[in-house]
Amino acid sequence: MNRMSPIRPAVPADVSALVAIENLCFPGNRLDRRRFLYQLRTANSATLVDAADGEVRGYVLLLFRRNSLAARIYSIATHPLHTGKGIAAALVCAAEQLARERGLHWQRLEVRQDNAASLSLFQRHGYRIFGSYADYYHDGMDAVRLEKELSLNQ
Ligand SMILES: CC(C)(COP(=O)(O)OP(=O)(O)OC[C@H]1O[C@@H](n2cnc3c(N)ncnc32)[C@H](O)[C@@H]1OP(=O)(O)O)[C@@H](O)C(=O)NCCC(=O)NCCS
Repeated sequence: MNRMSPIRPAVPADVSALVAIENLCFPGNRLDRRRFLYQLRTANSATLVDAADGEVRGYVLLLFRRNSLAARIYSIATHPLHTGKGIAAALVCAAEQLARERGLHWQRLEVRQDNAASLSLFQRHGYRIFGSYADYYHDGMDAVRLEKELSLNQ
């Protein structure tokens, strides 16, 4: 999150745009306005947005747990008008940097087994599959569990 980066922490004024992205990107298990606002208020969470030219183009939501050295990417999405521009890739890097700054050693997440774009995104960034959850999503789809060790000198 240097001065030139369009990535910054989300603020309450971003929530309408976040809900719009959520509704465009996910058929179910969506975050609503109330949940985004809750996540902005709690210390156990961080939401980063890509806001180039003032327009929220994508977000990543991280969750932290006390006594855990792992951060969890709870959700990541890019507005359909802006996919394929490297926005999610930059959000993943920013999320990893934030986790490192909090002294965490691991980043984990679950991805739908049929979500080829997301699996490719994370595997290209060094995440490895370490397990799965059966029947994890609203429609019964399994989740693939991915993790990456966050080296301190990146
Ligand atoms: C998955 C998603 C976040 C990717 O966002 P994006 O900003 O378009 O991704 P980027 O442009 O940063 O692409 C980074 C990498 O992701 C992968 N990727 C992105 N879109 C892809 C696609 N349609 N097919 C295959 N791989 C894809 C590629 O590995 C890509 O690297 P490359 O460009 O070097 O090939 C976006 O498609 C999205 O919001 N999908 C709906 C919500 C979702 O599924 N979120 C993930 C939940 S875990």
